[in-house]
Amino acid sequence: MSDLQPIVFPSLKERVVIITGAGQGIGRVFAKGFALAGARIVIAERNMPKATDVAAEIMQAGGEALAIETDVADPASIERMVQAVGDTYGRIDVLINNAAIFSTLAMRPFEQIPLAEWEEVLRVNVTGVMLCSRAVLPLMRKAKWGRIINMSSGAVPLGRPGYLHYITSKSALIGMSRSMARELGADGITVNAILPGATFTEIERKTVTPEQKARIVAMQCVPRAEAPDDLLGTALFLASEGSAFVTGQVINADGGATHT
Ligand SMILES: NC(=O)c1ccc[n+]([C@@H]2O[C@H](COP(=O)([O-])OP(=O)(O)OC[C@H]3O[C@@H](n4cnc5c(N)ncnc54)[C@H](O)[C@@H]3O)[C@@H](O)[C@H]2O)c1
Repeated sequence: MSDLQPIVFPSLKERVVIITGAGQGIGRVFAKGFALAGARIVIAERNMPKATDVAAEIMQAGGEALAIETDVADPASIERMVQAVGDTYGRIDVLINNAAIFSTLAMRPFEQIPLAEWEEVLRVNVTGVMLCSRAVLPLMRKAKWGRIINMSSGAVPLGRPGYLHYITSKSALIGMSRSMARELGADGITVNAILPGATFTEIERKTVTPEQKARIVAMQCVPRAEAPDDLLGTALFLASEGSAFVTGQVINADGGATHT
């Protein structure tokens, strides 16, 4: 047995954490929460006004943040973002693949989903995760340390009607996380997926009626609506030193609504 080293949890001081789609919602709360844990935050977001607002909030509170315009569906845009992070900090410790086409989606039977919308959702939500993950590899491999966290969904184990492209995209991230974890473990890089339950952010979603919200809460072991802060502890743990032996895992952070 090796000498037991003290683990400071969450030990994120000065770690460089890229959070895609952190201009609003869950990503925004992650950006602020990780900044409070001492990390240097990169908000890689398509919506620049929102990204700069989040960066300003973090900096006003004494944290460190960089907003970089990024389209996760575009390899050239991702390369520019990663290059800028490398030039500024020389390291990338954590990537949270959070950007997705989600809150803007209309619900409809899958036979009515336009093919272009289907393809866009898969491009951003699946291909975007693969592209961002492979772009950060050189710096993570150099450091022999890295954490990739993929935001999947608690709707995958449930199977929710009306969003076939979205649920398909989030299902893909489970297999992707497990397979990437197998490819990257020897490099000290872990890859895990978080399955949030229905999480209520500052963005109003017309697709969840008050009755549906009450039904969702009734399914949970913890009987209250989930907030973005409820996901933060799981993400901080998966980004920390303490999770080095946790990889290829799927963690339901949904108040106990589902068990996989
Ligand atoms: N809120 C929930 O109930 C819930 C539940 C399960 C999983 N999730 C997942 O958690 C993550 C965050 O959810 P949310 O509720 O904050 O979503 P949201 O729709 O409110 O925010 C998504 C963010 O991603 C950005 N984005 C979209 N396409 C992009 C692109 N091509 N490049 C860069 N940025 C892009 C948007 O501008 C936006 O800021 C998503 O991956 C979502 O699928 C959310």
